[in-house]
Amino acid sequence: MTTWKLRCSACNHEEPSAARVGTCPNCGQPFLADITSTPNRSSLRPRWDMWRYADALPLEEKEAPVSLGEGFTPLIELPQLAADVGVRRLWVKDEAVNPTASFKARGLSAAVTRARGHGVPGLVVPTAGNAGAALAAYGAAAGLPVRVYAPATTPQPILDTIRAVGADLQLVNGHIGDAGKAANAFAASDGYFNVATLREPYRAEGNKTLGYELAEQLDWRLPDVIVYPTGGGEGVIGMWKAFGEMVRWGWLKQDTRFPRIVVAQADGCAPLVRAFRAGAESATAWENPTTHAAGLRVPGPLGDRLVLRALRDSGGVAGSASEDDIREDTKRLAESSGIDAAPEGGCALAVTRALVRAGKVAADAEVVIYNTGSGASYR
Ligand SMILES: Cc1ncc(COP(=O)(O)O)c(C=O)c1O
Ligand SMILES: [Zn+2]
Repeated sequence: MTTWKLRCSACNHEEPSAARVGTCPNCGQPFLADITSTPNRSSLRPRWDMWRYADALPLEEKEAPVSLGEGFTPLIELPQLAADVGVRRLWVKDEAVNPTASFKARGLSAAVTRARGHGVPGLVVPTAGNAGAALAAYGAAAGLPVRVYAPATTPQPILDTIRAVGADLQLVNGHIGDAGKAANAFAASDGYFNVATLREPYRAEGNKTLGYELAEQLDWRLPDVIVYPTGGGEGVIGMWKAFGEMVRWGWLKQDTRFPRIVVAQADGCAPLVRAFRAGAESATAWENPTTHAAGLRVPGPLGDRLVLRALRDSGGVAGSASEDDIREDTKRLAESSGIDAAPEGGCALAVTRALVRAGKVAADAEVVIYNTGSGASYR
């Protein structure tokens, strides 16, 4: 059984695990769950989804998670693409095969499980697209009403999925930041619980399984470099938390060298790249964000400090790619692997290629790229 407390990532303010929290009441920064039990690697559950790591996730005793079979995604080695990019070994972790076709399923499975445990009357989220589809699905699975605020420019297949599973979809003129304001107002007036990225602590917990799974698939070791297409940052933050936990719990050797984290963004919306290059601890909002990689259109992420800290602590690097390069490498990734890659996955490949060319990722590196969604969601 898992025990945990909630701790503010900035000022260390603590709340008990049973508290229904949003952001820190003292400083407005995200809470993270501090797991106080010590899960054992040899007692993973015989389940073929992310809840095989249930003892490392915030789940009450005898509680069944709200699950649609999320996680347990393939890690596919691509030797020819490795040669093409110029690294020793290259794998793609294919998150397209998740329920609702993106990695967002992991975080929302965990967050909806806890929100249901708290007895919330309904769930609301602002989204660049895929998180809204995931929340709509997990809300339906939990029997809870869902409202989703998404930019009107969100790709049509994603909007169709949100409607198909019964959520109340509200289109917003603008970007996810504008959707966030509308979601906050609705949560305040109607009492729905807001599960926006890092506005509650548990999406990050679900995203830890991106890291546990990778380690298990590599027989309990880690690659040299991980490239993650980053918008709000929940993927990077969850994975980075998982690496620290696995060493602390003895799942990985004490002298494990953590992977360098590479944050991949689009030239048209790259607030984290700009902040990283400036050596800043936080990011300033990007003006007029534009990219067809919809999940990366997050101009002012709340998790900026945590992403930048993971970048610094891992000796990582951030880079961005042009729309043309994203398109070309989405195609290249798909055609060379058979994975129906999302533009976000293509962006990760394009940024990797540029960093190898610039000598910022070594030619003898073992690299894992996350394909975070499905190309089918964007056509
Ligand atoms: C397919 C896809 N990739 C990447 C991201 C960015 O993920 P994060 O918000 O965790 O940085 C998103 C977010 O919407 C997404 O939908
Ligand atoms: Zn705080």
